[in-house]
Amino acid sequence: MTPLSFLNMHFISFFSLLCLLLSRADARYGHGLVRCQFTSNDGHDAVYLEQIYINKVLLVQYNSTLGEYVGYTKKTKDIADGLNKSKAFLKQEEKNTNACKTSIPFVADVLLKSVEPNVKMRSVEAASSRHPAMLVCSAYGFYPKQIRVTWLRDRKEVTSDVTSTEEISNGNWLYQIQSYLEYTPISGEKITCMVEHASLMEPKFYDWDPMPESNINKIAIGTAGLVLGLAFFSAGLTCYMRNTKRGRMQVPTS
Ligand SMILES: *[C@@H]1O[C@H](CO)[C@@H](O)[C@H](O)[C@H]1NC(C)=O
Ligand SMILES: *[C@@H]1O[C@H](CO)[C@@H](O)[C@H](O)[C@H]1NC(C)=O
Repeated sequence: MTPLSFLNMHFISFFSLLCLLLSRADARYGHGLVRCQFTSNDGHDAVYLEQIYINKVLLVQYNSTLGEYVGYTKKTKDIADGLNKSKAFLKQEEKNTNACKTSIPFVADVLLKSVEPNVKMRSVEAASSRHPAMLVCSAYGFYPKQIRVTWLRDRKEVTSDVTSTEEISNGNWLYQIQSYLEYTPISGEKITCMVEHASLMEPKFYDWDPMPESNINKIAIGTAGLVLGLAFFSAGLTCYMRNTKRGRMQVPTS
């Protein structure tokens, strides 16, 4: 049995016991939460919590920082007192707390791997009249939340006329952010969006290309298509003219 499933079984029995103790006609809906809270990935600061709610009201909880049960109503205060006296229960909670702490590095490794952002740059209509041009650098789908998006002009950091959104949660662990640069284009200069993130060994640079290769290709294909179309059209037109001339010439002879 893994530490986590063991922990769940213990909690379910604890929960059913409390629900039995507290069952009344008006208490309709109970739910329990086992929480293993942590901020550092090695789990040393983990807090293990067991919480029992009836009709969404927290009635009793075990908090590993305090190392005891706390009741929040008269009745559950009595129950908490009883549980606090039970060496077996407290010992069990200590075991659960340890299971929580030792599971964290594993959980963190599997779930909290850093995910590299996808970065796209595009130009948008300028929002103010100070500068005629505006670029957006969007970073999508990254984890963890901390990120730094910076604008460079010829590799020198730009700080003015830069705005940025907060890191927006996608609701699935991943985040996105948009950074805007308002600027007056100078011919020959290089504008770069620099992204620094835990998933990257070193900063990544994305240069702004006002006419990306794919666009040049599209233009080339379009132009070729147009030329080909014109060639067929003029060939067709020549044939048509020849035929009508011949036709006209044939009219008087027939
Ligand atoms: C657990 O106990 C600690 C110490 O009293 C407290 O800071 C923390 O907020 C408690 N956690 C919850 C969820 O009540
Ligand atoms: C837990 O139990 C101990 C001993 O019974 C008691 O001193 C303490 O006040 C209790 N704590 C709560 C919050 O009920």
